[in-house]
Amino acid sequence: MKVEPLLSDVPERLLTERLILRCARPGDGPALQASVDASLEGLRPWMPWAQAAQSPEESEAIVRRMAGQFALRQDLPFSMFERCAGDAEGLHVGGTGLHRIDWGVPRFEIGYWVRTGFEGQGLVTEAVRALSRLAFDRLRAARVEIRMDTNNAASRRVAERAGFTFEGILRRDTLTPDGQLRDTCIYSRVRGVEEPVS
Ligand SMILES: CC(C)(COP(=O)(O)OP(=O)(O)OC[C@H]1O[C@@H](n2cnc3c(N)ncnc32)[C@H](O)[C@@H]1OP(=O)(O)O)[C@@H](O)C(=O)NCCC(=O)NCCS
Repeated sequence: MKVEPLLSDVPERLLTERLILRCARPGDGPALQASVDASLEGLRPWMPWAQAAQSPEESEAIVRRMAGQFALRQDLPFSMFERCAGDAEGLHVGGTGLHRIDWGVPRFEIGYWVRTGFEGQGLVTEAVRALSRLAFDRLRAARVEIRMDTNNAASRRVAERAGFTFEGILRRDTLTPDGQLRDTCIYSRVRGVEEPVS
């Protein structure tokens, strides 16, 4: 059955054990800017958009663009916040989302980054599990994939821990942020197949 993306019911807020995942909205710029600023060194090798500090105007424009794309179902980015008492939002601790969407399949790619100081606690794995449930249970995904630089060991572990299967390597498929040729790993989960979790 063909899916009309604009009619697709996508929750704007997801709760996990320790996180609130929420679509961006106007006014989120300062929280994003502070989080990226605190994380630039860790993000720079992997994320082309995180090469230099953002101005307040750039950050606000980014969150407004995210909100617009979310509303149009062109992209489904979520900001990650600490989940505090009463389900209040704490610190902005990163970004994730369902990207490069093909609603016809439907197929999604999960992306992620975490704020410096919040790595190694399983937060991103928790977010990836929640987005996988959203994709398969509510958005009827046939396939969800995660791609990363072959050298990005932490990102590969996240995919493996979240139950994604390694499918292979696309050789010299893109460039690193500093312009070197890069090999890309592809991990996936597909509907109806239980993947072994490592
Ligand atoms: C990749 C990233 C999102 C992982 O976030 P995280 O919150 O630390 O992830 P988790 O805690 O859920 O899991 C991290 C796993 O990677 C492992 N890991 C962390 N750093 C590592 C490193 N440098 N080398 C190898 N493994 C590493 C951890 O030990 C853990 O695995 P384990 O449970 O087997 O011990 C984070 O490192 C990050 O933001 N990196 C910069 C942006 C980025 O690379 N995004 C992905 C682009 S594809």
